[in-house]
Amino acid sequence: MLASRRNFLMGAAALSAAVVTPETVRAMTAMQAAADWSLATADLEADVAPRAMRLVHGRAPAGLEGALFRNGPGKFRRPGGSATHWFDGDGLMRAFRVRDGQARLEARFADTPKRRWESEIDAVVTPGFGTPGDSRARIGSPNDANSANTAVMAAGDEVWALWEGGSPLAMDASDLSTKRFVTLRDDLKGMPFQAHPRYDPDGTIWNIGLWGDRMIVWRLNTDRSLHTAEVVTLPRASYMHDFTASARHLVIVLQPWVFDHRGMPYATQFAWRPEMGTQVMVIDKADLSRTRIFELPGFSYFHLGDAWEDTSGTIRFDVAAGKDVNFAVEGARVMVEGRGTVPGEPATLSLVTLHADGRAEMVSSGVAAEFPKSDPRRAGLARRRTVHVAGERGGRPLPTGLAVQDWETGRSDAFLFGEDMIMEEANWVPKPGRSDEADAWLVAPAINLREGVTELHAFEAGRVADGPMASWRADVALPAGFHGVWAG
Ligand SMILES: [Fe+2]
Repeated sequence: MLASRRNFLMGAAALSAAVVTPETVRAMTAMQAAADWSLATADLEADVAPRAMRLVHGRAPAGLEGALFRNGPGKFRRPGGSATHWFDGDGLMRAFRVRDGQARLEARFADTPKRRWESEIDAVVTPGFGTPGDSRARIGSPNDANSANTAVMAAGDEVWALWEGGSPLAMDASDLSTKRFVTLRDDLKGMPFQAHPRYDPDGTIWNIGLWGDRMIVWRLNTDRSLHTAEVVTLPRASYMHDFTASARHLVIVLQPWVFDHRGMPYATQFAWRPEMGTQVMVIDKADLSRTRIFELPGFSYFHLGDAWEDTSGTIRFDVAAGKDVNFAVEGARVMVEGRGTVPGEPATLSLVTLHADGRAEMVSSGVAAEFPKSDPRRAGLARRRTVHVAGERGGRPLPTGLAVQDWETGRSDAFLFGEDMIMEEANWVPKPGRSDEADAWLVAPAINLREGVTELHAFEAGRVADGPMASWRADVALPAGFHGVWAG
């Protein structure tokens, strides 16, 4: 569908040299809009006050009530120096609130020491993942460099803005005002708490923090207080953005992007060594000293799906697997330039199987994918389905639609909006009182490049190919975010 529409537009544009009609002009305008994806990394200059979104398609699903909190970078450029990497913009917390069939949007920057200082001198000077920074940076502790820009955790009447190298930043869930950095235990103040916590069926939360080949394993109670924090030594020091977990095990995926030398920005410390292969470390949640190592061919990744295991002890999980680290190093720099071609191939959704006898294998679905997410009712438990963004291909960064992979049937149920939409991560929202995996909505924002605004879409999890059942449109465009959480 997407290809044929694009072919039609290209055909119309080619004709336009001879015959210029309103239709061909519109087609050419649409193509130009599609090519300009720079809204994805545009600067937002101020917080966005709460405002209504307009229902532009379908009907709001009855029973869909709650808020989608999302985090991601919202400001990159300042007159005295700029962030040069997509991962280094100032954290912007968004709230899409759905109630009584109406949707509202607001967004507020995380009020971090980094943003305060850089606002004062009107220059981005703090080193980050891919931004060098300079001597004007003021860093006395890890949280002085914390951009609080990556993900979000619900925590009662707060939301915690998560980063990778420091503490969660607590923000008020009702108005998104910044409260404080979270210290889980006084002697662990400022220790890294990564952006991708995993949840047990009983609500226990697991997370990790890394420095070199040491990993702190955080275990939080359902009320977000600390249960335990333990240190585990890893078989290698490599860059790791995510981990996963089954009900009984933590699964640590060590890609061959390994520590090579100290330096700044952070990513320059790592060397891509695919010949080393990817190692997977499985840790017993009940005793973190009990570990097993599995070996796989080398692949790169940012994101994993929830893991599950069967009665034979076989562990499975999905991964958006890449062939190299071109996007992490170079692609994310091009993203902030807002034009040009992002190098490398999109990641593809793959399934890793770790057998009880020590063998490991990985099978690719062949479908371009990022941001895999699954039914939160089944976190760590047996499941079939994974939702992910889809449709990314060469020529333009970022995805154009959503797909649900069914690992039991091998089917991919996809809907692609087309080149003039940038699709963001979808969250799985269970229908009240229902339990089947398909009894859920998928809720995700997108940037409509043709209209120049942010939208919110709700899909039926079991029928993605039908397209959204409801779409709301804001009167502003927010830059593309990374990760969110649905709070019902
Ligand atoms: Fe992430």
